[in-house]
Amino acid sequence: MEIHPFGPDDTAALAAWTDLVNVIAQVDAPWERAMTTARAEARWRHGWDGEPGTPYLARVGDRVVGWAANSTSEYDNLHLAWLDLGVHPDHRRQGHGSTLLAAMEAEARRAGRTSVVIDAWESEAADGFAKVHGLDRKSAEINRRQFLAEIDWATLDRRYDEALPHAADYVLERRFGPTPDEGLEELAVMASAINDAPTDDLDCEDEVFNGERMRAYETAVDAHGDDLYRVVARHVPTGELAAHTVVAVSRTEPAWGGQHDTSVTRAHRGHRLGVLLKADMLRWLRDAAPALRTIDTWNAESNDRMIEVNEVLAYRVMGRVWAYQRPLG
Ligand SMILES: CC(C)(COP(=O)(O)OP(=O)(O)OC[C@H]1O[C@@H](n2cnc3c(N)ncnc32)[C@H](O)[C@@H]1OP(=O)(O)O)[C@@H](O)C(=O)NCCC(=O)NCCS
Repeated sequence: MEIHPFGPDDTAALAAWTDLVNVIAQVDAPWERAMTTARAEARWRHGWDGEPGTPYLARVGDRVVGWAANSTSEYDNLHLAWLDLGVHPDHRRQGHGSTLLAAMEAEARRAGRTSVVIDAWESEAADGFAKVHGLDRKSAEINRRQFLAEIDWATLDRRYDEALPHAADYVLERRFGPTPDEGLEELAVMASAINDAPTDDLDCEDEVFNGERMRAYETAVDAHGDDLYRVVARHVPTGELAAHTVVAVSRTEPAWGGQHDTSVTRAHRGHRLGVLLKADMLRWLRDAAPALRTIDTWNAESNDRMIEVNEVLAYRVMGRVWAYQRPLG
């Protein structure tokens, strides 16, 4: 088996990777939105927020049998490498996964990292594979999907009205598209509240946010072909940003949306801002993005507060992803 890295300018490799991840998803998570070469290019050029990982394709002869990737951050978590790993369903149980894992671990060591994390949809294969490689389950995230046609608007309006008196000191602002430069640092301070979301038993540190990273995130969203909708709550007496929620809506496949961060800073919790923000976002999207059908969201399974908010807004559970971790010996 040969393993070669590729980059976002390699159109043949992007096409091969796109086909491969779509075949793998048919087996492991058939509800996933199909990958496209355009999104593949954006992923490997920009990552989530400007630190794309390095992807690799594994071939036996001219057949693509698997892929892997190695991603690290320079902002925080300097001990970690985030790995991805997938083997074509027709080529499993032949040792390819193990060879790819060994190659990625070697890359992680070379980058000075001392611990690896791999995410995987819950499956016997992932569990069996993780077990033999000493990777332990450390946290679970749930993928929920909201079907907008099923929203009970009357209940949503009632929840909104009930929440309003608890948030009398706050105003909501809708923001479409990139944040002006002068607003990025303020946004970064607020976005840091996401560090209060549980990470369970993962050996990881808080993420570090600054204006540069916020800009890189917004650039990545745009490069993925998505429009960015952000609703923020501002605390009127102090002028502080208290909370925000962000949804990305595809320009090329306008039925698809993704929920990104929702966070309320510590000083402003307990005012039902989560419900208000999400309800306001849905009302906005109903008018501004009428072709939108579904919004996918991710939460740590242990994040009861967020999940309660999501159930009110009629989300359905699609699947569970485990994060496995292992120190590099
Ligand atoms: C998990 C995955 C990468 C394994 O790839 P693979 O090439 O089949 O792995 P290997 O052949 O190297 O398997 C090594 C060992 O893992 C264990 N294993 C692999 N698949 C398994 C399964 N379906 N059930 C139980 N154990 C399994 C076995 O002990 C296996 O050794 P054996 O075949 O001699 O019994 C592959 O199933 C896959 O792509 N799954 C979807 C993506 C994913 O979950 N990635 C993250 C994994 S943590």
